[in-house]
This record gives sequence, structure tokens and C-alpha cells, in this order.
Amino acid sequence: MTTIGFIGSGRIGGALAQLAVAAGHDVVLSNSRGPQSLQEIVAQLGSRAQAASTTEAAAAGDMVVVTIPVRAYRQIPVAPLRGRVVIDTLNYDPARQGAVPEIEASGIPPHLLLQAHLPDTYVVKAFSTVFFQHLPQLARPAGAPDRSAVPIAGEHVPAKAAVAALIDSLGFDAYDVGTMAESRRFAPGTPAQLAYLHPDGMFAAPARPASAADLAALLEKAN
Ligand SMILES: NC(=O)c1ccc[n+]([C@@H]2O[C@H](COP(=O)([O-])OP(=O)(O)OC[C@H]3O[C@@H](n4cnc5c(N)ncnc54)[C@H](OP(=O)(O)O)[C@@H]3O)[C@@H](O)[C@H]2O)c1
Repeated sequence: MTTIGFIGSGRIGGALAQLAVAAGHDVVLSNSRGPQSLQEIVAQLGSRAQAASTTEAAAAGDMVVVTIPVRAYRQIPVAPLRGRVVIDTLNYDPARQGAVPEIEASGIPPHLLLQAHLPDTYVVKAFSTVFFQHLPQLARPAGAPDRSAVPIAGEHVPAKAAVAALIDSLGFDAYDVGTMAESRRFAPGTPAQLAYLHPDGMFAAPARPASAADLAALLEKAN
């Protein structure tokens, strides 16, 4: 089993932590307000969960999920993440989560900002396409006929393999889209990013499973 650190423990962080604990992993949660503010979610998650500072969560994780508003990326601790596998869930959403001057000025994607901030860290983009409420709805055991695939991207093949194994344990198939640059094919606004949304109800409707074949067809549309 794996210890997963969380930088950010909000909607996506909380939902992923729940799946991780259910799969038998340990989780170390952190946020901007400090461990005291995480007592309630830690109590809900049970004995496999603990709260910590961001530096402690980064150091504790065999893998670390970075799941914060992009505007806060400079506050991610750098030193403890060196040599580690980091899962990047980030989408840029200035209206809801605040603008980032360098993105506004140049359109640089958030994964490049994160990669520049975290040298020597093996960043894998994953779970940026799943609405947080849909994560528990879509998780299935391995081999289930309606199991969903989630796209991943990154430069480092062993890191992607480690993240794919984690994703499998959480109830999804990982679909490797390629290098980090290829994550543009599942960026916000692309067909693949809408894979699990029911066209009639969108976010309000129950999630719609999407297989690897479904995902491949949607990713193709962004070429
Ligand atoms: N919501 C979704 O369905 C969804 C889906 C896919 C991808 N995403 C992406 O995933 C990321 C997280 O989204 P979310 O919806 O989970 O956001 P959220 O509910 O607002 O949670 C954000 C978390 O980040 C923490 N945080 C903020 N600034 C921080 C800092 N400087 N250091 C450490 N932690 C910090 C917050 O802690 P405090 O509360 O203490 O400030 C909170 O725990 C975003 O980039 C979003 O675009 C979201």
C-alpha cells in the first residue's frame, strides 16, 4: 500500500483521499489553513488519514497529489518534492479560483508553471478531467464492464506507471495520452474533458462511464 500526500484537500483532494482510504492507502492531507482545519475530514476518513503541514504532506507521500487553485502554485513546497512523483490535477479557472498574471499574459498552461516550480519532480497530469462528485460514482473494481478510463500525461514513463497503478487501485483504468504537452488533448473545453458528463444534465446529472475506447475517440477529436 502507498502513502499519498495531498497538497490541497478540498473538493478533488477530499474525493481522491476518500477513494484512496477505501483502497487501503494511507493519506496525509494538507491545505493553506493548517492541520487543525482538517480535523473533521480526517475524522471522517478514519485511521488511515492524518493532517499535516504542506511540507510534511509532501515529505510523507510515496506520491503527492497537488490539487489547489493554480493561483497558489508558488506556495507548493519545493525541496520535499524533489525526486517524487506528483499528480497534477490543476485546471486554470480564473473566474472561480483567481487569475494568474503569467497565464493571463502569455497563455502558458498550468502544467508548465508547475513543472518550472518543481524541478527534479516527476509530474503526471491525472484526474483533471473528472468532476469531484463523479469520482465516487465512477469508481469500479478492476475488470468491471463499465469501468471508466482517465487520461494521464507526463514525461517520465516509470512515474506514469506508478500513477497508473495507483489509479487502478482507486477504481479506474489509466489511459496514457503521452507527454505532458499532449495533455492539451484533455484540457478544459476539449471533448475528452467532458467524457463523463451526461449531455442533458451536465454536472447536475449522474456521471456517465467512459471506457478507454470512448476516451480514445474523444481525444482524437482534439487533434
Ligand atoms: N472541483 C473539481 O471537480 C475539479 C475537477 C478537476 C480538476 N480540478 C482542479 O483541481 C484543483 C483543486 O480543485 P478543487 O475543486 O478541489 O478546489 P477547492 O475545493 O477550492 O480546494 C482547494 C484546496 O487547495 C487548498 N489550498 C489553497 N491554497 C493553498 C496553498 N497555498 N497551499 C496548500 N493548499 C492550498 C485549499 O485549502 P484552504 O481551504 O485551507 O485554502 C483547499 O484544500 C484546481 O486546480 C481545479 O481546477 C477540480
